Amino acid sequence: MSPASAPRAGALRPAVIAGTGSFAPERVMTNQDLQAIVDTTDEWIVSRTGMKERRIAGPGTATSDLASEAARRALADAGLAAGDVEMIVVATITPDYPFPNTACVVQDKIGATKAFCMGLEAACSGFVYAVETARNFIAAGAVTNALVIGAEKMSSILDWQDRATCVLFGDGAGAVVLKAAAPGERGILTASLGSDGSLTDLLLVPAGGSRKPATGGTVAAREHFLRMSGKEVFKHAVTNMVRAAQTAIARAGLQVADIDWIIPHQANLRIISAIAERLGMPAEKCIVNVQTYGNTSGASIGLALDEAVRDGRIRKGQKVLFVAFGGGFTWGAMVLEWAKGAEG
Ligand code: ACO
Repeated sequence: MSPASAPRAGALRPAVIAGTGSFAPERVMTNQDLQAIVDTTDEWIVSRTGMKERRIAGPGTATSDLASEAARRALADAGLAAGDVEMIVVATITPDYPFPNTACVVQDKIGATKAFCMGLEAACSGFVYAVETARNFIAAGAVTNALVIGAEKMSSILDWQDRATCVLFGDGAGAVVLKAAAPGERGILTASLGSDGSLTDLLLVPAGGSRKPATGGTVAAREHFLRMSGKEVFKHAVTNMVRAAQTAIARAGLQVADIDWIIPHQANLRIISAIAERLGMPAEKCIVNVQTYGNTSGASIGLALDEAVRDGRIRKGQKVLFVAFGGGFTWGAMVLEWAKGAEG
């Protein structure tokens, strides 16, 4: 198990989220629609997960298409021209290609010609990992802004014959623009990241990488689809998300009661409720949209953040906690002081 990332000392440049954007494909797939595909019921899905519907991208749409639309919206919100973006990070487990990375594809689509581009693979923790990565580039003075996107076409890696997984996920994208903070702005305060690579087998796509390249056999065995041991994942998710959140909050010199909003990875309503309860945080402080989007993996926190900012729930000066858990296993939490819009 790797140690959580340590807090930095010294006067590094803080970063703020200067704009948010999100995008989800138009097509809605309801629990009733799923009943026609696999042996499931609306009652089972709602009671186990809280999910009622999810968005599914069409066959001609790739992850970069979702990412680019979310990116355009975040850039417009931040008032930053695509041509002035210095760095693009795309967190995804459903890239357009094994290589090149999806951020390069996004760069071309949005015309961010000056940016350098990287992909980041940390499954459902990808958005938190990507924001923390870009934040450190800004803190070090390497860039003054960055476009960070979590985007997934989860429907492309789902086994539509496996009722235990195909009902859980959806497609979408969430993006933020980070900028070096102006004097007096605080923005991102702290983060706590961690991983446990000994539990890889509990949540993975078994084939298609260098360990098991694609063959007729891997396709026939359905090994290019996501596999998950749901119960095990559930336990590890709750334990590690609570611990990461507590660490990030303590590093910021705050108490749980100081947090105005928690934006958890939208894996499952029961996981979100368990985390809130263990942290001692009222359910009303949780931003939840799992009922409409399902689990969009690396996209989920960015998507929920954008909705909550645009509908006026998150306001300037408020403390916001991101917390995520995903395949790897990976987990991460981040505490921010919201620096944009009307005072809270
Ligand atoms: N409809 C109806 N029945 C189902 C379905 C379904 N869609 N799926 C499974 N079942 C059945 C099972 O076959 C099993 O039946 P059995 O008892 O006859 O064998 C029964 O329901 C119970 O199955 P469990 O897997 O034990 O159900 P559980 O209560 O654990 O709930 C769930 C399953 C929702 C997947 C839960 O374990 C969970 O949320 N786990 C965490 C998943 C998660 O968050 N993953 C994302 C992590 S992040 C990432 O990186 C992708």
